[in-house]
Amino acid sequence: MRAFLGIGLPAVVRDSIASSMARVRGLHAPVAWTAPGNLHITLIFLGEIGPERVPRIEQALRVVASGTGPFSQTAEGAGAFPGTRNPKVLWVAILEPLELVRQLQQNMQYALSGAGFPREDRPFHPHITVGRVRGALPPAWGERFVGEFSGRRFGVVPVSSFTLYESRPGPGGAVYTPLSDFRLEGPGARETGEETGS
Ligand code: 2AM
Repeated sequence: MRAFLGIGLPAVVRDSIASSMARVRGLHAPVAWTAPGNLHITLIFLGEIGPERVPRIEQALRVVASGTGPFSQTAEGAGAFPGTRNPKVLWVAILEPLELVRQLQQNMQYALSGAGFPREDRPFHPHITVGRVRGALPPAWGERFVGEFSGRRFGVVPVSSFTLYESRPGPGGAVYTPLSDFRLEGPGARETGEETGS
């Protein structure tokens, strides 16, 4: 099975992203847009794993979750990988500060390395994938996409748990099935991503 770990989004944030994208989707660019129900923040992509490994993975992640407190992030603005000039993956951004989500992701990687998963060298860029480019886009399309959503706030994502998902190919695109939820039961609720002002 193909599996990954991520943070699900509240319906209000999924709806806000989906309705904001409606105009751009209407332009019929060669982009496979993420179904609103599939919108999430990926933490770790596990790839193909045998189902017999799941209990060990869950055990390692429960330890991380029990020592991590809930926090929240803000979804605002947009970007593209590898860049706006040659976009392949279109995403909604997660505002700084990102320390808490980075710390969580690092702790998960560390715990999973004990369960036989090599740690990724790639830096972690939390984001919400909204589309994957499938063909040639008109010139400056990426710049216009990012410009259109600059400063657009899609909402607050409360992170009170993370989820192990199975990803299966389906006729209308990937189907993500939550297999287990890991509630963050550590001390302290923290708000991040909101401007504190001065
Ligand atoms: P993405 O958020 O950048 O799209 C399920 O497919 C999730 O796992 C996707 O959200 C995707 O990240 C991530 N993913 C899929 N294939 C991947 C790969 N080969 N390497 C890293 N992450 C991958």
